[in-house]
Amino acid sequence: MTLSYVVEPGGSLGGMVRVPGDKSISHRSIMLGSLAQGVTRVSGFLEGEDALATMNAFRAMGVRIEGPDRGEVVIHGVGMHGLKAPAGVLDCGNSGTSMRLLSGLLAGQGFEATLTGDDSLRQRPMNRVIVPLGSMGADIGAAENGRPPLVIRAVEGLHGIDYLLPVASAQVKSAVLLAGLYAAGRTCVTEPAPTRDHTERMLEAFGYRVERDGKRVCVVGGGRLLASDIAVPADISSAAFFMVGASIAPGSDILLADVGINPTRIGVIEILRLMGADLTLHNQRKLGGEPVADIRVRHAPLNGVRIPEELVPLAIDEFPAVFVAAANARGETILSGAEELRVKESDRIQVMADGLRALGAQAEPTPDGMRIRGGAYQGGQVASHGDHRIAMALAMAALNAGGPITIRDCANVATSFPGFVGLANTAGLRIGER
Ligand code: S3P
Repeated sequence: MTLSYVVEPGGSLGGMVRVPGDKSISHRSIMLGSLAQGVTRVSGFLEGEDALATMNAFRAMGVRIEGPDRGEVVIHGVGMHGLKAPAGVLDCGNSGTSMRLLSGLLAGQGFEATLTGDDSLRQRPMNRVIVPLGSMGADIGAAENGRPPLVIRAVEGLHGIDYLLPVASAQVKSAVLLAGLYAAGRTCVTEPAPTRDHTERMLEAFGYRVERDGKRVCVVGGGRLLASDIAVPADISSAAFFMVGASIAPGSDILLADVGINPTRIGVIEILRLMGADLTLHNQRKLGGEPVADIRVRHAPLNGVRIPEELVPLAIDEFPAVFVAAANARGETILSGAEELRVKESDRIQVMADGLRALGAQAEPTPDGMRIRGGAYQGGQVASHGDHRIAMALAMAALNAGGPITIRDCANVATSFPGFVGLANTAGLRIGER
């Protein structure tokens, strides 16, 4: 039995909403907390399946972790060399972040570990981490074409590299830097465009020196991490669905509380503003080394835009939602330079084009993006292909649809946004499960 959403058309979004904790930061809090000396207390932790997969992996390597209990997690760090060989395979579920960051972190541990995942994750490319980690001295075996499962074997030691990232990917950057903590000498990564820097920020918060110079970041191996409490902001990637919903639905006026506005994550705010959205930031402050704000979003007529390519890595997870905004905008929206969308939890270019077209919207997929002409669309049946963000984006599309939208295969929304249906209903979306 698969879970479907049925979303009635119309309505508007309002009230105050705090979406769950940031997924990227939640993963990293478990990883660095486990390797630190001392006790790390995390609040606002995302109790979604992806972050829980990371938590379970560290428990399987001997780390005592209490919780999660209403977002509170207590990690009893074992120090840089305190992890134990896991008794079984480490299951990363649907989570690319777990698998890629763990690959780097485990490469220098001195024991063997196997990482696997669900059907979607086992189709995703891992050579992007296997290649640089291999050049540091790691020994990582994979199935055909560098697909999972990955077998990370014990090696004598790693050495630092100077790596020019071929794709703008925070997961690859982080994998190399985490391996670099265990490598002899200096490990540097240069990115083609800025990507999320939560790993760098959290390493610094745990007392590890990180050398940052524009697009280049370096660490010197052999240091240590000191436990540090972490308050996880609300995830801007989850807030994005409500930003788009409120922008497109007449009468909407919603306040999204405590949203992380790290400059490497705010592409969606910039894109929506370019389209004419009415988004204002209030109460800007710092939470656990990360900037946060309350974001007020009021309905406003949107216009189609050509999305600047430099914003693509800064909004990489938000394009399913942005496509829904585009389908509701006047004129054409053009996205290019976003081929990475084809290797996310689903092929987000094809799957979103199929979904929007099933509703009668005009969407033309291209190899590296999409052209969408806004206008009226109907209800209908759409497939999320088990991709959490596709399911939530298409749910918001119902706010302006001509009839109900049924979205199939929505169970994976629990990977990043547990409680989505309840929270969305409270805010005004007429969504039910079947
Ligand atoms: C993430 C990086 C991004 C993003 C993913 C989370 C991270 O992936 O899509 O959801 O936490 O580092 P890429 O590095 O593949 O772009």
